[in-house]
Amino acid sequence: MVVNTGMDRRSLSAFSVMSYTSREVPDNCQNKNDANPLNIFQRIRLSIFLGDRTAAPEQNGHRNYFRSFLLHFRPSVVPERTLRLSLTWGLGGMAAVLVFLLFGTGLMLKFAYEPFPDRAYDSIVYLENHIPFGQLIRNIHRWSANGLLLVAFLHFLRIFYTGAFTGSRQFNWIIGIMLFTAVIFSNFTGYLLPWDQLAYWAITISTAMLEYIPGVGTGLKEWVLGGAEPGPTTVMNFYAIHTAILPAILLFVLPFHFWRIRKANGLVIPRSPTEDPAIRGAAADAMPNLIVREVTMALVLLAVILLISMFFNAPLADQANPGLSPNPTKAPWYFMGIQEMLMHFHPVFALLVIPLLLVFGLLSIPYINYEADTAGVWFCSHKGRKMALIAVFVATAATAAAVLLDEFVIGANLTGPPNMISNGLVPFAIVVAGCTGFYFLMKKGFKATNNEAIQALFTLLTTGFVVLTIIGIWFRGTGMQLMWAG
Ligand code: HEM
Repeated sequence: MVVNTGMDRRSLSAFSVMSYTSREVPDNCQNKNDANPLNIFQRIRLSIFLGDRTAAPEQNGHRNYFRSFLLHFRPSVVPERTLRLSLTWGLGGMAAVLVFLLFGTGLMLKFAYEPFPDRAYDSIVYLENHIPFGQLIRNIHRWSANGLLLVAFLHFLRIFYTGAFTGSRQFNWIIGIMLFTAVIFSNFTGYLLPWDQLAYWAITISTAMLEYIPGVGTGLKEWVLGGAEPGPTTVMNFYAIHTAILPAILLFVLPFHFWRIRKANGLVIPRSPTEDPAIRGAAADAMPNLIVREVTMALVLLAVILLISMFFNAPLADQANPGLSPNPTKAPWYFMGIQEMLMHFHPVFALLVIPLLLVFGLLSIPYINYEADTAGVWFCSHKGRKMALIAVFVATAATAAAVLLDEFVIGANLTGPPNMISNGLVPFAIVVAGCTGFYFLMKKGFKATNNEAIQALFTLLTTGFVVLTIIGIWFRGTGMQLMWAG
């Protein structure tokens, strides 16, 4: 139902006054002298619903109570245009649902899991084979965790490509990055817990990468693992971080993220490039328009996760064996882009310089001075969309070509250990020059604004990283040699 904003606010406040004034009615002490005393169950019910249960349902029924409860968390009215699926794709809401699904299933897993290397694996096997629905709960937890990474990444892309990071939304972008980091580390710390070959060696290879950081690398690695290699302290530390510290951070930061959306006056209003950003359009009641959409999306997502979990079991290899490394030894899939980068760049660049520059770039995105206000416009403009598409093609071709070139031509002719100049400075300078050239070429060639050119550069780098991740996951075989995916 689409209504005028002002009208709706008035009727809504009238509704809340109604539900609160009716609180006067239930004085639980007055019943002794009443002609029609309430029994204990009616009084308990009254204490919960804060209203006169004898009133007609349309005056003060369960629906109103539920509505009042929901509207304390959600806005009472929203701009009608923000309800369009083509703005959010339901991604932020899906991420929130997955976080809560993970909390629920994680709590259940805690009843069975034992965080000690000599018992962890057996406790998972026992959970899967002897505890009713144990396998299903584990599957739901695992697939939701992977789903959350994917959904949060897509949500991050939607925020970027709809320009929802400027003005009053700047800091919410930073909060979002914090959330995404917490999601990555939740996945990483959880990965070790089953203590199977996959977990043990993925954590070994990921933490071994830290060793390459000059000066502090070895110390940092031993601090993360609680020793020189994964062992009892690692399991205990990862377990505490995974089940207490990271959930506490998420529980604290998520409400803050939502509150900032309310403070920014809701979501960005989707519009065409020529439309005036000041026009907010008609407003719609959050109930049922927004809430019903959100609940439907949550139910569909739960059904999909349940179906996947019924047909695909979470992987569990043999028990961890520190003396027998699998070949190839790969990091968890979301770190494969970094592992792949490590095969082409000196570790100082792959693990320190490039990641630091990327993090710095991500954090500065909202604070750049943009020429145009593109909040709410997908891809800035039609031209911006075309430029982004070109960036996807260029990055895919250039990254694949660079990997092949390094693997079969340059790398094959370089002898000796990785060297700071030939494996570090030179390829890094080529990448920087390529990106800078691409930025100016696009800006000049398309007579683009800096919004459009920065978007194209962002697309170039993101696609490049995704291509590296795909190569690492599917195109690396025994001895981490390139192979045809199979
Ligand atoms: C666990 C991860 C996350 C959860 C659960 C989450 C949840 C949400 C929800 C429910 C919304 C409103 C609906 C929607 O836009 O789909 C939202 C909006 C927003 N999110 Fe996230 N988010 C997460 C991660 C991120 C990340 C990684 C970023 C960016 C770096 C981000 C930045 C924003 C911003 C700026 C808005 C406001 C969008 C607008 O005004 O249109 N969030 N988030």
